Amino acid sequence: MTRLTLLLLVAAFTACGASPIPRPTQADASRGTARFPDLTLTELSQGRTLYVSRCGSCHTLKPPADLTAERWEAEVGEMREKNGVKLSDAEAQAIIRYLAVAGSG
Ligand code: HEC
Repeated sequence: MTRLTLLLLVAAFTACGASPIPRPTQADASRGTARFPDLTLTELSQGRTLYVSRCGSCHTLKPPADLTAERWEAEVGEMREKNGVKLSDAEAQAIIRYLAVAGSG
């Protein structure tokens, strides 16, 4: 990505107030049930909260659309195994589901 593209992207985000870490909507939850049949908006919202609170202390947060669902699942697994990020299975699942669904909108 060139510097100009990056600047334009930053400007676009600032201009319309969209967060690069988007808040999940009911539309996201409905779309996400194709991949995760028992998905709820509550779980997606918890996933976002956990992502922001537990994943941003060592490095910046990548927007969900930056990686595929498969890559997110692998990265969360790696953070738990190699970087000592302590998450329950339910917390890891909520984060993975949020990143997978919010990134595929
Ligand atoms: C204890 C510190 C720490 C926390 C907390 C942490 N990470 Fe990381 N993360 C790292 C380190 C160190 C690296 C770079 C080395 C590596 O890949 O292991 C990294 C790399 C990454 C990368 C690859 C970045 C790239 O540019 O390719 C992703 C994606 C990522 N982390 C996601 C997460 C997610 C999701 C969480 C929350 C579940 C998380 N991280 C929490 C330490 C952390």
